[in-house]
Amino acid sequence: MIKKISFVSGAAGFIGSSLIAELVRNGKHVVVVDDLSNGSLSNIQRLLNTGLVSFYNADLSSDSACDDAFAYASTLGKIDEVWHLAANSDIPSGVSNIEVDLKDTFLTTVSILKTMKANEVRSIYFASSSAIYGDLGDVLLTEESGPLLPISNYGAMKLASEAAISAASESYLDIACIFRFPNVVGFPATHGVIFDFMSRLKSNAAKLTVLGNGTQQKSYLHVSDLVSAMLFIANSQSINKIKLFNIGPIDRGVSVKWIAEQVIKRVSPQAKISYGTADRGWVGDVPKFNYSTAKLQQLGWQPLLGSEKAILLAIDEIAVQMGM
Ligand SMILES: NC(=O)c1ccc[n+]([C@@H]2O[C@H](COP(=O)([O-])OP(=O)(O)OC[C@H]3O[C@@H](n4cnc5c(N)ncnc54)[C@H](O)[C@@H]3O)[C@@H](O)[C@H]2O)c1
Repeated sequence: MIKKISFVSGAAGFIGSSLIAELVRNGKHVVVVDDLSNGSLSNIQRLLNTGLVSFYNADLSSDSACDDAFAYASTLGKIDEVWHLAANSDIPSGVSNIEVDLKDTFLTTVSILKTMKANEVRSIYFASSSAIYGDLGDVLLTEESGPLLPISNYGAMKLASEAAISAASESYLDIACIFRFPNVVGFPATHGVIFDFMSRLKSNAAKLTVLGNGTQQKSYLHVSDLVSAMLFIANSQSINKIKLFNIGPIDRGVSVKWIAEQVIKRVSPQAKISYGTADRGWVGDVPKFNYSTAKLQQLGWQPLLGSEKAILLAIDEIAVQMGM
């Protein structure tokens, strides 16, 4: 029997490595395609050793490299579905250089869609973001909210990717799932607020400089809950061709100040926290958002951990990861 292959882009990174562990547990054969610009083979080594996961190094923003990656995966079986997670994950870097999100977020999506069409692969699962909504303060963000006016190139290129997937689904896709992630935390961290705080404390255990005044309030989901929600949505029945869901916890989140205090308590109790004066950490940062996950709850999914518990668990996990 010909093996069915799940092609997963960006899976040497934080979320992708957890996702493929779950796909393998569900009996899938996985081909990871990643250029290792922010991921690492060490994140997936245990899975590579099972023989159920293969790795191909490619920059998926290039059409020819994307073709080669599909050709490689096709030597192992029939590509059944694409999970597209490869992207720039560093929002500030895309503010100073517009090319970053254009290349790693949008062009990877376009190349993948073109190659899916050429190879007659008809199912895509896409990692989008709450950043597509822009900065709407306390307005409740549902899947129907609009107009969508992102404030970072990161959000803009995620939104452009959603649009390209929508157009492709009109002509050649059978299944398109768009997951709008919140802030995700856990192991193995490659970026994010906890990783950033611990990296700063590693180089100076006496002082933690926080970007912004610490009042930024966001919801956080543990990666284990995120992956559970993605698979729940993927396996759900829908009459709609495009399944579009916000994924997140049910609470309003925690402040950056609270996170800084918890990180210090865990890894460097003597450190002093120094805050900035702005209400946000960087240009393109959305300081507060009110995320509705009612649609996902109606489908029947709920997270195991709220924002506080997710952060506390991730602090422990990342402290171990960083040897702190
Ligand atoms: N972590 C979060 O809080 C969060 C929130 C919203 C959305 N997302 C999205 O989820 C996905 C995974 O994020 P993550 O947190 O695991 O980030 P990550 O940086 O750990 O993973 C992204 C992976 O993509 C790879 N990559 C980047 N450009 C590539 C290219 N041109 N070709 C091939 N591979 C490339 C990187 O090497 C990395 O392994 C991303 O699409 C990200 O935008 C993440």
